[in-house]
Amino acid sequence: MHAVRSLSLAFLAVATYVSAGPLAKRAVAYYDPNDNGGSMLTNAGNGLGEPLNVIISGLSSPDVLTYDGSINYARAIGFSTECLGIHLGGPQSANLGDGNGWVNQTVEIREDYGDASVGTCLESAAGGDHFRIFVQNGTEADSGALFLAVSYEEDASEDHDIEPDGYDIGRDDLVSWALGTTSYGGVTYSTTAENITGLLSAGSSGINHDISIDGIVTLLTVTIQ
Ligand SMILES: *[C@@H]1O[C@H](CO)[C@@H](O)[C@H](O)[C@H]1NC(C)=O
Ligand SMILES: *[C@@H]1O[C@H](CO)[C@@H](O)[C@H](O)[C@H]1NC(C)=O
Ligand SMILES: *[C@@H]1O[C@H](CO)[C@@H](O)[C@H](O)[C@H]1NC(C)=O
Repeated sequence: MHAVRSLSLAFLAVATYVSAGPLAKRAVAYYDPNDNGGSMLTNAGNGLGEPLNVIISGLSSPDVLTYDGSINYARAIGFSTECLGIHLGGPQSANLGDGNGWVNQTVEIREDYGDASVGTCLESAAGGDHFRIFVQNGTEADSGALFLAVSYEEDASEDHDIEPDGYDIGRDDLVSWALGTTSYGGVTYSTTAENITGLLSAGSSGINHDISIDGIVTLLTVTIQ
């Protein structure tokens, strides 16, 4: 499984540059996956899913929406890529109604506790915020937006279960870290937020771990300064 993940990541890094191009400006914030056979819940492999509770708008600066750009942005707001070797959860897939069908997450990113190199190793043991990224770029709904399934986990001794209210808490934590001005790797970002209702249903129907959600999706628009 690890080999498959690494391969698809390598492919992704190349494909993103070739297809989108860093300067190609998108025209819409996002398309509602439900309008074209998709879902705002991931497939966790057990008939249930996690809510896609944060969207990074397709109207963000194009570089933010690339593979490398999204990871740099994640670092700027307090996350980094997973600690290799301590990955506990399986990959999930999402259907964003863009004609690509069910596609695995591009990457899973974890809270780094203030140290982008070893921080995620601490997080894997201690719990914390994490998210999976899915890209809405199929030809039937090519917004370029990033759909994030964000959650807050209990520590490894609890088997990395999502804590009660963990989806709403994870979303609100991420948004609070992202808002305003942030920077990493010489790139400075300005982020604004808007809440959207009607994409997700409130409640726990279909939600992994039977955790209830408030149904809010937060739309972030990220502009590189
Ligand atoms: C869409 O995004 C995925 C994940 O980043 C990537 O693998 C794929 O090549 C992209 N497709 C297009 C047409 O840009
Ligand atoms: C998605 O991930 C699963 C689990 O690792 C794997 O079996 C499957 O082949 C992957 N699908 C694609 C399209 O990469
Ligand atoms: C979005 O909703 C959350 C949860 O109710 C709230 O804490 C947050 O302030 C709202 N954000 C905006 C931009 O309205």
